[in-house]
Parts: sequence; C-alpha cells; structure tokens
Amino acid sequence: MKKNKKLKVSIVMGSQSDYKTMKLSVKILKMMGIKHETKIISAHRTPKRMFDFALSVEKNNIGVIIAGAGGSAHLPGMISSLTSIPVLGVPIETKKLKGLDSLLSIAQMPKGIPVGTLAIGGDGAINAALLAASIIANNDFKIKKRLNNWRLKQTRSIKKKPK
Ligand code: RP5
Repeated sequence: MKKNKKLKVSIVMGSQSDYKTMKLSVKILKMMGIKHETKIISAHRTPKRMFDFALSVEKNNIGVIIAGAGGSAHLPGMISSLTSIPVLGVPIETKKLKGLDSLLSIAQMPKGIPVGTLAIGGDGAINAALLAASIIANNDFKIKKRLNNWRLKQTRSIKKKPK
C-alpha cells in the first residue's frame, strides 16, 4: 500500500447478472467521490482471476473490497482468505431461494476469516458502499464530511407527519 495515496474501493461480482444490483454500490461511491473499479470475478468459474486479483489488491492501493455473489456465494469468503483488506459481502437475490442462500453462505463464515455481510440485494449494495465510505473516511476528512452531509440530507428528508 502506497503512503499518502487515496485508497480505492474494488467492487467485484460473480457474474454480469449481478451488475444490476452492484451498480447501486457504484452510484454511491461516485456520489461520495471515492475512487473505485468494477470487475467480474467468479470464484468457481474464474478461480485464477480471483487469486490474481486478491493477491494484487494491496499493491493496487485498494482499501476496501465489496464482493457481490449469489447462490453458494463463496466469492467474498475466498477473497477474504487471500487478503487482510476488509471484504464486504453483498448477497445477491436469487430466483429459487430469494437470496437466503447467498445471505447464509456469506454470513456464516467460520471464525478466522471474516466477511462483513450486508442485506440481500439493492439495500445491501447501497449499504456496502456507505460502509466502505465510512472505512475510507477514517483517513480522509473530505469523504467524512460528504458522508455526514449525505446522512443529514437523509434525516431532513423524513417528514414528521404522514400524508
Ligand atoms: C453466482 O451465480 C453469481 O454471483 C450470480 O449471482 C449467480 C448466477 O450467475 P449467472 O448464471 O447469472 O452467470 O456465481
């Protein structure tokens, strides 16, 4: 990791079909002005790509990895086993089990190799990016300010009375 260089967030996903969910993470990171990249990496279909990626994140100045995966969803856990950079897992909603399979697979990592697990689908993708922003904000005052302003705007948008 290079000193004094802005940390990037890497958004990886098991399939092109995951992008309709994971693009919500991209949207939040763009809004926060956080450098990011997107990649399709499948733990079972492109295992070498996954290895090469996980072993190069530190030298590429990645500070947080957001990994979206569906079904048996081993991508976030496998990446986390190869690097100590924080990994946030987004369970993709599936046709057969509505994403419960993805959720349990990502959340139930045995002790020793952690994955921060977010909610199923779009809410998870949005929160993963907000959480990544919080992590990056620890060492970046500008991002902290943007994040806090975003929250303030959200708070102000909640009406006191229902219509
Ligand atoms: C997983 O299988 C991917 O993360 C995706 O959610 C799911 C289905 O992939 P496709 O059949 O759409 O490529 O590996």
